[in-house]
Amino acid sequence: MTASPTPERPSLRSQRLNQITHEPHTKLDALVKAHAPFETQANFARFVVAQYLFQSELVALYNDAELNQIVPDLAERCRAEAARLDLADLDTDVPAPVAGAVKHPGKAEALGWLFVSEGSKLGAAFLIKRAVGLGLSETFGARHLGEPAGGRAEGWKRFTRTLDALEFSAEEEAAAEKGAIDAFVRFTVLLEQAYASAPELA
Ligand code: HEM
Repeated sequence: MTASPTPERPSLRSQRLNQITHEPHTKLDALVKAHAPFETQANFARFVVAQYLFQSELVALYNDAELNQIVPDLAERCRAEAARLDLADLDTDVPAPVAGAVKHPGKAEALGWLFVSEGSKLGAAFLIKRAVGLGLSETFGARHLGEPAGGRAEGWKRFTRTLDALEFSAEEEAAAEKGAIDAFVRFTVLLEQAYASAPELA
């Protein structure tokens, strides 16, 4: 059974995911800022470590054959390689994997994770402007925050349109929501880990 839309529960899946991740997003935004990533390149490099770890954990999902049937340009949307190049630009070692990465989620749960990863490209529009102040750009050090081919807003609209058009069972709906929440929890863990393992931060 599908729950009827109410002001409390929007009819579009993407809007529901937006709604349930609003609080974790606000908290993560504050946590990112608490680490002052734009104060120095060294601080920013730790943020890139977190981004790299998060993106590298999602490589299998971005390249999954079934998911690429649903989202045709999914594989090209992956930013693990861009983040790896950013690390090299910033003279930062590629971090060792952190235990607890998502493993073999079902289709709907995977799409919840990808919703968060793709959504984070919207905030990246603001972040890259700050990164420019550190002498970085979408071709050096902040590649993973760069504008995707075809534009940020357009890429996001295509993704959410596809996501919203899928028929999900109640179980799948719940799995997508779980994936989105888990993604925020995971990014938070990776962010804390990245700053805790900083080699020489003041
Ligand atoms: C790992 C996941 C995410 C991270 C680390 C992240 C991080 C951030 C940060 C730090 C900002 C603040 C930028 C600034 O004020 O300078 C921001 C803003 C923003 N984010 Fe995210 N975000 C994530 C996921 C998402 C998702 C899933 C969406 C959409 C569904 C989203 C949409 C936005 C938008 C529209 C902004 C612009 C300002 C605002 O409305 O708050 N982000 N994000």
